[in-house]
Amino acid sequence: MAATIVIFGASGDLTSRKLIPALYQLYRKGRLSSTLNIVGVSRTKFTHAEWREELARSTEKFVGESFNSENWEQFAERIYYQPGDIGQPDDFTSLSKFLDELEGGETCTRVYYLSTAPRFYQPAIEQLGQAGMSCESNGPRRVVIEKPFGTDLKSARELNRVTHEVFAEQQVYRIDHYLGKETVQNLLVLRFGNTIFEPIWNRNYIDHVQITVAEEVDVGSRAGYYDSAGVVRDMVQNHLLQLLMVAAMEAPVRYEADSIRNEKVKVLHAIRPLETEQIRDYTFRGQYRGYTSSKGVEPTSRTPTFAALKLWIDNWRWQGVPFYLRSGKAMSCRTTQIVIQFHCPPHNLFENSPTSLGESNRLVIQVQPAEGIQLHFQTKVPDAGMKMRQTDLNFNYQKEFRGAIPEAYERLLLDALEGDASLFARADEVEAAWKVCDPILEAWTARDKPTLFMYDPGFWGPDECREWMLAQGREWFDTCPLLG
Ligand code: BG6
Repeated sequence: MAATIVIFGASGDLTSRKLIPALYQLYRKGRLSSTLNIVGVSRTKFTHAEWREELARSTEKFVGESFNSENWEQFAERIYYQPGDIGQPDDFTSLSKFLDELEGGETCTRVYYLSTAPRFYQPAIEQLGQAGMSCESNGPRRVVIEKPFGTDLKSARELNRVTHEVFAEQQVYRIDHYLGKETVQNLLVLRFGNTIFEPIWNRNYIDHVQITVAEEVDVGSRAGYYDSAGVVRDMVQNHLLQLLMVAAMEAPVRYEADSIRNEKVKVLHAIRPLETEQIRDYTFRGQYRGYTSSKGVEPTSRTPTFAALKLWIDNWRWQGVPFYLRSGKAMSCRTTQIVIQFHCPPHNLFENSPTSLGESNRLVIQVQPAEGIQLHFQTKVPDAGMKMRQTDLNFNYQKEFRGAIPEAYERLLLDALEGDASLFARADEVEAAWKVCDPILEAWTARDKPTLFMYDPGFWGPDECREWMLAQGREWFDTCPLLG
């Protein structure tokens, strides 16, 4: 079936940095329908040709070596631009007319991609509704909504309510680009496409789980947005909780959107709500030194750029196993990893048997940038009696599959065009994720809020956070992956 993707916020950063490069890569790989049209909408007055030229420049910059001008010219023939203001109903009438003409009245899938500033999501959805553009009489109509989906439970509920007045839930695709990452999807394969991991993936064998999303970059030019969001809204409510859900969920009955999402939501519902008096013991907030001198940040800002949380999942599988989540800007290196830390052996048979968790079995899932999986285990050192040493089995994506790993947006855009919502968040899922985060956000802004610990850029967050972990007999896995 023919398809049109309409990008609202066409002149924005996400469109040029991620969306168009991803669509171009899909085109290059022959994955797009030959009748796909791309229509950009924003207030800037571009002609079709001007927008194509802009995009040629940015796409070349972002896709690097895979850019080919001949190929781009063919791809660009399907790109159109329609100036429009989200506040103007007439602009939606004109857009609707433009799209109908472009599609020649044929049955056509339409994907409306909201890549605007979040405050425009609601008005854009309302306008699409008023212009009759969500009606599926001439083919499927879908809306893709970027993160952040709300700023707390109340606003997320309201956005869901407004969205559902215009679109049925099956038409709504709430994006979290972490779900489009190959390594996150591979976690499902690792767990449910193999037999050896599931029997030990539980409290009987696992001491705790660590999920770290460390970024080397600081807030850079996004300080204005970031200062009002902070790390919990920017990273924890979405990316980290998504990783937690995929790591902790039960096997879905089928590989299909609702079966998967049902299991993911159950994990969120099982997370023990943090009581106000527990916030100091279970959460940790930090800010890198120099943050308040960034352009767009209040000099007195107390916005956290680092968070560490300890969560419990109250179900049969995970009772008693803490999940540690941690994320920060301006950290030692860029690394996203999930560490499954197994218990120490129950009986010390050998002279230097592992007696601390650091020496016990550990499975490390490197989500990015050195995509791979390592299993750490004890091995007998040759010719040294029964002395043991920790060694590892190392699986590396680059070595195994050689080709470049596709950008998350390629997979997600294709899925939205094909109507597969497995890697998108459902309404109840985003609300349940806010339910986990709201008590933290409230306590962190209350009058007697916990200390905001400072850390130097280029480190693993505040020292106090390391000590907090040590006091629990555990250690953060602070290892920068080896690249190349
Ligand atoms: C975005 C956050 O959702 O994810 C950014 O808003 C963050 O602050 C980014 O830098 C990280 O994404 P990735 O794919 O580079 O890990």
